[in-house]
Amino acid sequence: MFPRDFYEILHILGIALLFAAIGGVAVHAANGGNKANSGTRGLVSSIHGIGALLILVGGFGMLARIGFQHGTNFPGWLWVKIIVWLVLSAVALLPYRKPELARPFLVLLPVLAGVAVYMALYKPF
Ligand code: HEM
Repeated sequence: MFPRDFYEILHILGIALLFAAIGGVAVHAANGGNKANSGTRGLVSSIHGIGALLILVGGFGMLARIGFQHGTNFPGWLWVKIIVWLVLSAVALLPYRKPELARPFLVLLPVLAGVAVYMALYKPF
């Protein structure tokens, strides 16, 4: 049985990997780069996928350790975190298709992460 903090390490490591991928793609796309001329496509896709997976494993691992009863409805704060995770996981490579999103992503996606952290710390609903 791993303790809560072990899962928090996985959770934060996942966040770092996901944002390394998000930042890398956004900066490359903002400078005119695209999937075809990217020399790190495979690496970025891998750390993006591993990052998203570690957030999930770490998050649900912590959930079990903080006493969440299996089978009960997810509280609002957790749904917000899951939606943030879905958005962050889904849009990471989008600047390659829509380069005009690259700069806004560099600012807005970290703000979205802030919303997820706020939900974890304050659980407002
Ligand atoms: C499937 C999605 C997610 C799940 C199930 C999840 C679940 C959790 C849980 C259960 C905790 C522990 C709360 C506690 O100890 O009271 C937590 C903490 C945390 N979550 Fe998530 N989370 C998810 C997504 C995210 C995302 C996308 C981010 C940021 C990008 C994030 C950032 C954090 C941080 C920084 C903490 C540590 C807060 C602290 O105790 O100091 N989480 N998360």
